Amino acid sequence: MASLRYLLAAALVVAFVLEGSPSQAQLSPSFYSSTCPAALVVAFEDVLKKAFSSDIRIGASLIRLHFHDCFVDGCDASILLDSTNTIDSEKFAAPNNNSARGFEVIDNMKAAVEKACPRVVSCADILTIAAERSVALSGGPSTNTIDSRRDSRTANRALANQNLPGPSDTLDVLKSSFRNVGLNDKFDLVALSGAHTFGRAQCQFFRGRLYDFNNTGKPDPTLDRTLLKQLRELCPQGGNGGVLANFDVTTPDVFDNKYFSNRAQCQFFRQSDQELFSTPGADTAAIVEDFGRNQTAFFKNFVTSMIRMGNLKPLTGNQGEIRLNCRRVNGNSNIATRSSSSRRVIWSALSK
Ligand code: HEM
Ligand SMILES: *[C@@H]1O[C@H](CO)[C@@H](O)[C@H](O)[C@H]1NC(C)=O
Ligand SMILES: *[C@@H]1O[C@H](CO)[C@@H](O)[C@H](O)[C@H]1NC(C)=O
Ligand SMILES: *[C@@H]1O[C@H](CO)[C@@H](O)[C@H](O)[C@H]1NC(C)=O
Repeated sequence: MASLRYLLAAALVVAFVLEGSPSQAQLSPSFYSSTCPAALVVAFEDVLKKAFSSDIRIGASLIRLHFHDCFVDGCDASILLDSTNTIDSEKFAAPNNNSARGFEVIDNMKAAVEKACPRVVSCADILTIAAERSVALSGGPSTNTIDSRRDSRTANRALANQNLPGPSDTLDVLKSSFRNVGLNDKFDLVALSGAHTFGRAQCQFFRGRLYDFNNTGKPDPTLDRTLLKQLRELCPQGGNGGVLANFDVTTPDVFDNKYFSNRAQCQFFRQSDQELFSTPGADTAAIVEDFGRNQTAFFKNFVTSMIRMGNLKPLTGNQGEIRLNCRRVNGNSNIATRSSSSRRVIWSALSK
């Protein structure tokens, strides 16, 4: 833990130098006091590790929250807002309703951070950092995250329904949903889909493939027979749609490249995953093969694509605000919070 603190403090010093003088950057010098960064990193790690110890799935849920935030008007924590008279919460958009989870952990991280460094760290940055740490704590690569996003004052449920890809999407649709938000439809699509190496999926999202694929009355012919049998046992017709299946049967809670290497036995049971590989002529298939053979290549591309996703349309300067409570906009717009005239690294890669 001591080295963790040291690394974060060092990262902050570097960030400070990169950014220039505090007045120019409109940052409070106290943000760089020696106590704040150490308290910050301890607070994050404590909350996350506690969450992991009672719920091993939580890391997967947190990275998914970050993804579902970034695909809707950029990474601005819009997904965290609860419904009010003026906010139509994205939590009830079809891809999130009864599916997105981990909100309480983000609340706990925010509470810990507000104690350590009030009004400095946005909810959007917390989501980004939670995603990054979750991957690292699960055995995956750690990332330098460029932080200093600000939080939206609005949510957009209709856009969440429109922009977030669905489990029965064809490769063409998946590709266009990535292009629409400014990501590329080859490496970003394949690398980020590799996040399905951990976490769970509910039967309701893939049962169609087991019994009535594409209205044929038959299972999907591309599905491995042994896998089909196992999944039918787990998800009987007319059974509870909320039953959970591990995305990865061999290492369900580890962030590794099994998603790409174990396709036949345990992976790709959802249509959208299969599409990356078995669509005739797919330019994504070779990347799937490569990542399945070479975990280093997967990790390298995953880090690059996570940074690209985390940089989608950030609110900067005086746009938006830094919410005091991630679930609602600040009531009083005069509440003083850090503005960000430039973006900087507040969380550096912590080598494992
Ligand atoms: C490419 C299009 C994608 C589609 C169609 C898709 C769809 C889904 C679906 C249907 C689930 C299951 C949800 C449930 O059963 O409640 C899921 C879970 C998950 N997705 Fe994706 N996803 C995609 C891309 C991504 C990306 C880009 C990431 C992150 C970088 C991601 C991370 C996850 C994780 C970690 C889970 C498990 C969550 C948990 O256990 O709580 N997915 N996804
Ligand atoms: C969300 O799910 C709940 C419970 O299943 C359901 O009653 C509600 O109608 C859903 N909301 C939307 C907007 O679909
Ligand atoms: C589903 O069926 C439609 C119409 O028969 C066809 O055009 C489409 O390609 C099929 N989709 C898949 C994934 O097989
Ligand atoms: C695996 O990928 C890494 C990173 O792209 C590359 O440097 C290495 O040569 C690859 N290894 C093999 C065996 O192809």
